[in-house]
Order: sequence, then C-alpha cells, then structure tokens
Amino acid sequence: MQRWAQKFLVVGGSSLKGTVKVNGSKNASLPILAGTLLCAGKVTINNVPKLQDIKNMKDVLIYLGAQVKDEGRKLVVDCINVQSLEISEELMRRMRASNLVLGPLLARFGNVKISYPGGCNIGSRPMNLHLKGLKAMGAEIKEKYGYITARVPSRLKGAEIHLDVPSVGATENLMMAATLAEGVTLIRNAAKEPEIVDLQKFLNAMGAQIKGAGSDTLEIKGVSRLEPAEHTVIPDRIEAGTYMVAAAITKGDVTVTNVISSHLDPIIAKLKEAGVKVTVNKNSVRVEGADRLKAVDIKTMPYPGFPTDMQPQMMALLTVADGTSVITETIFENRFKHVPELRRMGADIHLEGNTAIVRGVPSLSGAFVEVSDLRAGAALVLAAMVAEDGTVINNIEHIDRGYERMEKKYNALGARIIRIST
Ligand code: UD1
Repeated sequence: MQRWAQKFLVVGGSSLKGTVKVNGSKNASLPILAGTLLCAGKVTINNVPKLQDIKNMKDVLIYLGAQVKDEGRKLVVDCINVQSLEISEELMRRMRASNLVLGPLLARFGNVKISYPGGCNIGSRPMNLHLKGLKAMGAEIKEKYGYITARVPSRLKGAEIHLDVPSVGATENLMMAATLAEGVTLIRNAAKEPEIVDLQKFLNAMGAQIKGAGSDTLEIKGVSRLEPAEHTVIPDRIEAGTYMVAAAITKGDVTVTNVISSHLDPIIAKLKEAGVKVTVNKNSVRVEGADRLKAVDIKTMPYPGFPTDMQPQMMALLTVADGTSVITETIFENRFKHVPELRRMGADIHLEGNTAIVRGVPSLSGAFVEVSDLRAGAALVLAAMVAEDGTVINNIEHIDRGYERMEKKYNALGARIIRIST
C-alpha cells in the first residue's frame, strides 16, 4: 500500500459531540529531538506524537548514528555515537524542520553539512537568519551546489544577534547552538512561541543556562557540555485549535482535553468574536457552536498573535459565517492554496495579494479536492464535514504529517470519514 494513494471520503452533516484528547506538540517535539544531538548520552522525551514528521526526524537522528528506542509516546534517544555526517537532499527534502540539526551539530562537532531544505508549498522559507546568526557566533558558512557547510575552528562564541523577523526555526537553531558556545549569546527579536519556551525547559533540564524564552530577548550562557535528562512535551496548540474549529463549524459541543488554555488565547478570542461559546477549564476547553456564525477579520502574526498554522482552518469556518471576513496572511507568501479547493466546494473567496475576502455562504457542497499542505488539508476536512453530500479529499499524506489518525478522532465525535487506500 502506498501512502500517497490514500484519500478521505467525508460525508457531511454531522454535529460533533463529545470529548477529544490532544497529543503532544509536533512543533515542540521536532526541535527537542534535534536538541538531543547536543548531549553525548541518553535523553528521554515523553508525550511525543506518532506522526510522519516525527518519524522523519527520527530517521535523521538514526542516520547520524543515534540509537532511538521507541516506546510509544516515549522516545529514548542516545546520541553518544553520533557523528556529523553529510545530510543528503533525500533526507532533508522529506521535512523542512530537519534544518534544526544545523545548530546542534555545529555546536557539538564544529562542522556540519546539510542539503539546503529549499522552499515548500507555503512559501520560499529561506534560512538566511539561521546562517547570519551562526556567522555572528564565529561560524564560516559556505552555500554551494545546494548544500550548506558550516565550520568553526574551535568553539562557537557567544554573540549579540538581532533577528530581522522573529523566526521560530532561527530562534530554535541559534538557541541550541549557543548552549555549547563560549560566553553569552543574546538573541533579540526572538520568536515567543510556546514551543520556544518548551525547548528552553528541555535544554535547561540538560544543564543549559537559558533565560528569557517567551519574551523577545533570550540570554544563553554557554556551558561546556550537556547531560542526559528527561522532558515531557507540551500539548499541540494547533491540533487543539483545529478540533475547536471543528466543534464550531459543525454546530457541535466538544470538550478538547489535555490543553494549556493560555496557548489557545488568540484562537479562543477569534472564535468568541465569531459567536462561538468557549468555556475554559483547567486543562480543557469546551466549544459550543452557534446557529449561524458571524464574520470576523483575521491577520496572522507571530505569537501571541493569531497563528498562521490556524489560518486555513479559520477560513473554512468563515466560508459559512454570516457576512464578509477579511483574512490577511503576513507570515508566509503562498499560504492560500486551500482557496481554490474551498471554492470548488461553493465557498465565495476573492484573493488580493496576501488578503482573502471571504463572503459567507449558507452552505457548501461536496466535491473532489486536493490537499496541498498540512493545514490546508485540515481546512478541507472541516469544510467537508459541513458540506452537503460527500467530499473526496486527495493527498491526505500531508494531513498525516501533523495529525495522528485525524479521522478516528473525528469519527469518535460523530463524524463520518472513511480512509480509502487505492
Ligand atoms: C515554524 C513552524 C510552522 C509555522 C511557522 C510560523 C515548526 C516545525 N514549524 O516554521 O508550522 O507555520 O513556524 O509560526 O515549528 N524567514 C526568513 N529567514 C529565515 C527564516 C525565516 O526570512 O532565515 C521568514 C520565513 O520565510 C517566514 C517567517 O520568517 O516568512 C517565519 O518563518 P519561521 O518562523 O522561521 O517558520 P519555521 O520555523 O520554518
């Protein structure tokens, strides 16, 4: 059975009801797994989701010589025998986040060579900020024949780095590199996402000395080595947000458990503005949909702004809201690939540059649609759950990269989704 041949058949019309549990965060697990390379010993990571992207990162670690013991959601990674081998295009191409091994390998071994990760479906996604920061720390960098080579004569040196934009990946790579550098590194205009806070917690558990995660300045005092540790990954705020939108769009009543509700504040605020009832409890949120939702305007921003990773899902919701919504995407230049597919289902969306004007329609209708990327896929499933008749969603391997058996979770809440392998 080939993975790319899988599709979802979604029969719309069910109102979702019940409780759904959120897994560990994909975007927190990926840098943390890359960070295990900093330690010549055994590191235990709990609450890791079972996803294709996690498998891709495990494959990179194993290729470099790590031993990875997979005990369900607990991974024990031993990087004692790791070497800084050249990472080929084949491995890098599978997942952009493989670039997160750059900082750790350079810091521990003084040299690294990886294939340039290149662009992806949502934008060009350059690495200039990662490389500029490493250069400021004394690395010599060459970009040739599609590969990035970085070397440092002895040890990276602490530096003052000001990021042009608060890139999540650059903040993570530089923070990991700085843990083993000589002296103090300051990263200004750093990303403030909860995943950065989780990475700080993990690295500090291994003996790193990092302060400031969650604010726009990070201070990292380099240490000579990191020690084995154990860490539990935070819940996935984007998975949680997606299930919250599912409850809202299907006029359902769903309690999403295992969440850190403060991480969901920007999503909760927009759902409430759209007329959705959201009740926040200690580790869960209850979402009750309204009869007809109201249009709202959305602008994606770095955390604590509205997350770009929730933009397609919110757009799906707003296609059936009452009135006209304006959605502005400020993070990625090509993140509207779901628009033509939503239009096939009857949505009224007009694009002007990085802005989408969504005029709410009373209902959507089933169609054959294609998934272009992970969150676009999540949006199409949401739209299909309220469309009249059936929708066939092709290329669902993108969805499997970031959602663990999404259809099982939705079906347990009353949806009708069948996975078809052809
Ligand atoms: C991470 C998330 C992704 C999320 C994104 C923004 C992971 C594995 N992925 O991606 O799901 O959508 O944050 O919240 O955590 N940029 C540059 N130069 C650089 C690096 C980035 O110009 O060197 C730009 C990018 O083109 C983009 C913006 O900065 O326009 C934000 O990208 P970044 O925060 O780096 O995203 P990722 O870390 O790749």
